[in-house]
Amino acid sequence: MTRGLFITLEGGEGTGKSTQALRLTDRLKASGHDVVLTREPGGTPQGEALRNLLVSGDPGAWSANAEAMLNAAARETHVRQVIMPAIAAGKTVISDRFMDSTRVYQGFAGGADMSLIDALERAATHGLLPSLTLVFDLAPEVGLARAKARGTTNEDRFERKGLPFHAQLRKGFLLIARADPQRCAVIDASQSPDDVFSQCWSRVEEAMQRG
Ligand code: TMP
Repeated sequence: MTRGLFITLEGGEGTGKSTQALRLTDRLKASGHDVVLTREPGGTPQGEALRNLLVSGDPGAWSANAEAMLNAAARETHVRQVIMPAIAAGKTVISDRFMDSTRVYQGFAGGADMSLIDALERAATHGLLPSLTLVFDLAPEVGLARAKARGTTNEDRFERKGLPFHAQLRKGFLLIARADPQRCAVIDASQSPDDVFSQCWSRVEEAMQRG
């Protein structure tokens, strides 16, 4: 059995990742792939419980180091119980966020200790790296306005961290993409949903050809 692809979607708030994750899932399924769509923090009952603690409430409730630890606990469970078994069974896994979110939200923008982040990443991912990471790039003013307009959930703890934090997120994700162009593709998320989808799909097709 061939191992399946592992695709992650990353970026700041309101960049349209979740919509595109669904569209990619539908397109891949329509072309005969077995797809698991999942998200972080989350993807398992334990991870979803940690997600509730992380994404709602007072923006200052957790330090960046504590956030990194909670995300790592959710990720380790997710990788071991969901992602690795699916890839081993030849399924394509699409995760709405993964390790780069911790590097950027907690590390680059949040100021967490980078040696802690490195150690947690090693333990949580079990050495698993995405085959492709789509980095959704958008001006933070636009993304935050979109996220606010959506405003249907109480998952706004990070949205409320203020514009300078969100400007750092954009910079951090672009730095990661530039440092690892083999794995990462920057997607211009300011375009229409159809155009954004075409950008994503052509990257996914390339990744499938690479195998
Ligand atoms: P979202 O997936 O709906 O964007 O919500 C998840 C939130 O959690 C988002 O604000 C980013 C944040 N987050 C982190 O801060 N670190 C992480 O490692 C992950 C996976 C998410």
